[in-house]
Amino acid sequence: MPSVKVTIDGTQIEADSKRTIIEAAREHGIKIPHFCWHPKLSVSGNCRMCLVEIEKMPKLAIACSTQVAEGMVVHTKNDRVVHARNAVMEFFLINHPLDCPICDEAGECKLQDYTYKYSTGYSRFDEDKVHKPKRIQIGPHVMFDAERCILCSRCIRFCDEIAGVHQLQFIQRGDHTELTTFPGEKLDNPYSMNVVDICPVGALTNADFRFKARVWEMSFTDTICQGCARGCNIEVGVRNNEILRLTPRRNDDVNSSWMCDHGRLDTFKFVNAENRIKAPMIRKDGVLVEVGWDEAIARVASELKSFKKSEIAALGSPFATNEDNYVFQRFAKEVLGTKNIDFARHSHEGDEDAILIRADKSPNSTGAAEVGVVPGDNGMSFNAIIEGIREGKIKALYALEDDLAALPGVAEALSKLEFFVVHAANDSATLRYADIVFAAATYAEKNGTMVNFEQRVQRVRPAVTTLELDRAMDGFEMSRWDKFASHNDKWGKGPRRDARSSWKIVASIAALMGTKFKYNTADEVFNEIAQRVESFRGLSYLKVGTKGTPLKAKTAASVHA
Ligand code: SF4
Ligand code: FES
Repeated sequence: MPSVKVTIDGTQIEADSKRTIIEAAREHGIKIPHFCWHPKLSVSGNCRMCLVEIEKMPKLAIACSTQVAEGMVVHTKNDRVVHARNAVMEFFLINHPLDCPICDEAGECKLQDYTYKYSTGYSRFDEDKVHKPKRIQIGPHVMFDAERCILCSRCIRFCDEIAGVHQLQFIQRGDHTELTTFPGEKLDNPYSMNVVDICPVGALTNADFRFKARVWEMSFTDTICQGCARGCNIEVGVRNNEILRLTPRRNDDVNSSWMCDHGRLDTFKFVNAENRIKAPMIRKDGVLVEVGWDEAIARVASELKSFKKSEIAALGSPFATNEDNYVFQRFAKEVLGTKNIDFARHSHEGDEDAILIRADKSPNSTGAAEVGVVPGDNGMSFNAIIEGIREGKIKALYALEDDLAALPGVAEALSKLEFFVVHAANDSATLRYADIVFAAATYAEKNGTMVNFEQRVQRVRPAVTTLELDRAMDGFEMSRWDKFASHNDKWGKGPRRDARSSWKIVASIAALMGTKFKYNTADEVFNEIAQRVESFRGLSYLKVGTKGTPLKAKTAASVHA
């Protein structure tokens, strides 16, 4: 790529000649303030916030639409630029309401931040502000306040260019210009809530999160969405140990800067839900009764010994982590001695698009298979296991984190089992058939990894804490200070659940059955995966990092211990 030498604020940089000044500056850590420019949208150049001085050019130019050129000398903070920026800010604030104290965007608002940084601090305007409609439900998930809108057009461009639907437009002129939906339309598309993230002010807000918390009261944890096999990178927002919202995190190899509304709204409420399993349960006189962990673990260990190997089947889960599935398949093969190992697929054919949404509605089917949750030689696959239960060949089933009874025809088979152990985070139809239930930690309560449909291994991290985490602090990467901060600030005083990572539960049962797996933390499990599974070879949590890394391309079938 041809590159050019440009000087910005006295520092010479080398930049691709196709870059604009704002892009080139950003790549070299120089921030130029902007409202309408967004790295993933077309350039509209309407806010004028990015004005810079370019030597030999008579007027100031906007950095978002001016391309770099050889020898260009740019000033982003001299007196002329600062004066122009002050004027732009004064213009924006003429009609913008001063409602930061009740605005959801406060604390993460570009206009608020720039007002502190680039504005003069007072207004010369003492006439009436223009009044426009407020609190409009512009779509099922988004609220709109027209008075706060600074007309940057990011939301319009997002709908047109990314979501591929023309639902938003401007009407009227001058200071009466207003954002609205096309006649007869709503802001209603599978990606509608991304406009909330990119709106630089509080004009577009998340109807679900509105007024739940001020952003500075929350902690944020990097993890991945559980809604489908894409594994969009997200940030989990938590206050007092309760998840309040999910927002996308930029990763150009996975989800660009976006996520779908289903992922954003439907993949965290189960963590906070009333129907969480609060403790292990054993069925006594036909009813599931809460018991201690030791009793439930001992009961499973003794019951499983009473079945022949061929009568036992083990179902891992595409919703569980690689660490959970890996330890589980070792347990099934080495302790139970069964070859009947598989997991249920959750593919909704046709329910996918060319943007992000995948037909596979589970986050880790690729990883589950990759770490060995596959039938052994002559072992039964998922359908064969269900058929085997119906025929009475399979008498005991051990299943991880999946609502199997919701799958067509499976509930009736489960009712025929003599012994059924389930790990579950929430109550579900499956539990009606269970003899023993273990309270499983959700993706937001444990460390681990998952592999997306493009073979990219990515991290999940605890965003809320459990009694298990409180006790063991299974967060391998936490320094002592982090641990302290976690308890005092990050997770707050909210309720703790007595849920455990599936791999730990399985390891406890294995130990009672005479096989000791020597892991204390999830990263120790991952290190073993990285030693024993070819496609993970050489990886570590550190290498997976915050944005994930591709699995090694397979030369032959993955090698399992
Ligand atoms: Fe920009 Fe927000 Fe107004 Fe849309 S609603 S034009 S994103 S300020
Ligand atoms: Fe350049 Fe708006 S960011 S004109």
